[in-house]
Amino acid sequence: MTRQRGARYLESLGGVNVGGVLLANPFMTASGTSGHDVELAGYMPLRRLGAVVVKSLFHEPWPGNPSPRVHVAASGMMNAVGLQGPGVVSWIHESLPKLESEGAVVVASIWGRTVHEYVLAAEQLVAAGDRISAIEVNLSCPNLEGRSGIIAHDPSVAGQIISAVCARSQVPVWAKLSANTDRIVEVATTVSDAGASAVTVMNTMLGMQIDVRTSRRSLGNGGGGLSGPAVHPIAVRAVHDIRVALPRIAIVGVGGIASGDDAVEMMMAGANAVQVGTASFARPDATWRIACAAASRAHALGASSWSTIVSAVHQD
Ligand SMILES: Cc1cc2nc3c(=O)[nH]c(=O)nc-3n(C[C@H](O)[C@H](O)[C@H](O)COP(=O)(O)O)c2cc1C
Repeated sequence: MTRQRGARYLESLGGVNVGGVLLANPFMTASGTSGHDVELAGYMPLRRLGAVVVKSLFHEPWPGNPSPRVHVAASGMMNAVGLQGPGVVSWIHESLPKLESEGAVVVASIWGRTVHEYVLAAEQLVAAGDRISAIEVNLSCPNLEGRSGIIAHDPSVAGQIISAVCARSQVPVWAKLSANTDRIVEVATTVSDAGASAVTVMNTMLGMQIDVRTSRRSLGNGGGGLSGPAVHPIAVRAVHDIRVALPRIAIVGVGGIASGDDAVEMMMAGANAVQVGTASFARPDATWRIACAAASRAHALGASSWSTIVSAVHQD
């Protein structure tokens, strides 16, 4: 009953514009946490979400990391899945039609390790045309052309990649950023100047766990990424600081959202829309539940549209 009421409020609050992409509501799945396909369709109505963001795709099939790939952490989880995937071409043929038959609005995520690899994936996605609503560019990848480091930590390389992807894309391009750097606002500014119509903030935080009984690292890859409630305040801060620096850019907030109030908090910090990741591992219908709960909170706050909620903390 409460969820039904939340669903009604969700409808009455209307849609949002995320960097040129009109979504029926601001709630999306986070890349990598709902598969490449319709894995979660049996748990929630994908067509009623703002969008389904699929796991990041490479320009060819990619095997990912050795297991174990996930491990529980205090207030969250660690993962080093290693971007396993079927490749863009196979995904367009095998998975996109199934997402379409569920009525999902689809955002395709891509990854690479060089400008050229991102370009290859973006060029392959041209075949999908407007069957995808946006490309989200996962920049949290090793930079094979630099001496070392992660692309998302380097404003210049991140900007080059976004500019190259925008030049090939027929749909809006969102840049997914990392908070494992004190330069996140600078990176956001650079990718915005390079053509990204939105920034997705943020990917996982670098971490590691060691099993003291075996003195071995808990994940097959060694290190991994921390996600879930533990990272939520980091994501809220990152969204807040980017909103202060870039009042007009569209921001998609992601990190540790596990309740409707977490989502509303992220929007008050400056996010126009949000994504739900780790919460889906505990409850596969988390994105839909959170959407309904957030709509109930917004209604209780007297909001008649999401614009009343977005950036509310900056109105003081
Ligand atoms: C198992 C797992 C796999 C992920 N895979 C991807 C991925 O393929 N691409 C990506 O951009 N982010 C990926 N992420 C990061 C999430 O999309 C999200 O940015 C991050 O986990 C923070 O949100 P959360 O705390 O709600 O999970 C992954 C996260 C997890 C837990």
